[in-house]
Amino acid sequence: MPKKIRLGILGGGGDSLIGILHRVASQINDNYEIVGAVFNQNHDKSIKFAKEIDLPTNRIYKDYNTLIEEELKLPKEERIQVCSILTPNFLHFPMAKKLLENGFHVICEKPLTTTYDEAKILQNILDNSNLVFAVTHTYTGYPMTRQMREMIKSGTIGKVQKVDAQYYQGWINPIIHDKSKRSSTWRLDPEKAGISCCMGDIGVHAFNMIEFTTGLQIKSVLADLNYLYEDNAMDIDGTVLIRFNSNAKGVIRSSQIATGEENGLSIAVYGDKGALKWEQENPNFLYLLTDNKPLQVYKPGHAYNSKLSLDGTKLPPGHPEGIFDAMANIYLGAAKAIRNEKYNSGEFPTMNDGVRGLNFIESTVHSHKQGNTWVNLK
Ligand SMILES: NC(=O)c1ccc[n+]([C@@H]2O[C@H](COP(=O)([O-])OP(=O)(O)OC[C@H]3O[C@@H](n4cnc5c(N)ncnc54)[C@H](O)[C@@H]3O)[C@@H](O)[C@H]2O)c1
Repeated sequence: MPKKIRLGILGGGGDSLIGILHRVASQINDNYEIVGAVFNQNHDKSIKFAKEIDLPTNRIYKDYNTLIEEELKLPKEERIQVCSILTPNFLHFPMAKKLLENGFHVICEKPLTTTYDEAKILQNILDNSNLVFAVTHTYTGYPMTRQMREMIKSGTIGKVQKVDAQYYQGWINPIIHDKSKRSSTWRLDPEKAGISCCMGDIGVHAFNMIEFTTGLQIKSVLADLNYLYEDNAMDIDGTVLIRFNSNAKGVIRSSQIATGEENGLSIAVYGDKGALKWEQENPNFLYLLTDNKPLQVYKPGHAYNSKLSLDGTKLPPGHPEGIFDAMANIYLGAAKAIRNEKYNSGEFPTMNDGVRGLNFIESTVHSHKQGNTWVNLK
């Protein structure tokens, strides 16, 4: 077993949503050791949280600049090798930029940055380095979305002609109708989240899932977004028509005011020989539909699955894989890349996925603001 990769964490404190997912996922395959962090913008809170999770406090820094400065003083074999960025969106760019410029690998939450231009700057820096950059589009880590990708790649459903991706949540409904609540939520603040809430936060996952499973690139979008209130600068719902080319089209339906919905991400890809459907809330079932055969259900861990899918399964069939396992698979893929081991390009989303995501977010908002017109992605 090679030595564990030394991991630093920025954000993801005890008060956060996503921190626990990364901490647990990074440990699942025994590849990483958390050695340093800035869990919170408040240093005392960071230290308190480190104590709660039994982490030594000598490498809990007051901010990311200090983390980088102090870690660079350590011998290479002790220094943090990779940092996970789990803060609100506006901090991803300055943190990732400085980490890359100082030779650290990065695992970054989505959306990669708050603007396409920032994303391109990061891509340029990465292209001139030997570093690894993963963007945690978590849902690509499920064995059954990986299976979907491999089946589409091998021609099981033929030529893709229609795609329908939905990402419905309802959590903003109780917030948006209350003026004080809607002005104190960072996801509704353009300074912290970027130009979009719904498309930036979850529509981008649906976009990524489409490009991940089909292997195709979306060429243009036409969006109709909903903001509900005049003083709300951020979309909280929207429908986006998508085109791959003149014969392959589809739709992304995304909402955070779909009252009562939890984490309803689903994708259906229809080809000329069959179709594949998958739902995040029941992630261990992948459905294959055809014109003339009964519905088939694929499940994780069976030998009939692809290598990419089986590499993301740790136990025999019948032991459900969940969101922690999906994120763990992304960490596993990044670990292989950091160690210079062989890996499949589907094992973790890359900088390119992050840049495409920002391209999608900005294009949908422009499309809506221009009066619902078609916008070509760059
Ligand atoms: N991959 C996914 O499915 C998924 C799911 C949820 C959130 N996210 C992404 O994760 C990121 C964080 O989202 P969240 O819901 O956990 O947010 P959150 O508000 O719950 O937590 C943010 C954390 O960052 C910390 N933080 C804020 N400023 C900081 C600073 N300057 N230095 C260090 N820490 C700081 C906060 O103290 C808090 O612990 C966002 O970019 C979001 O889009 C991704």
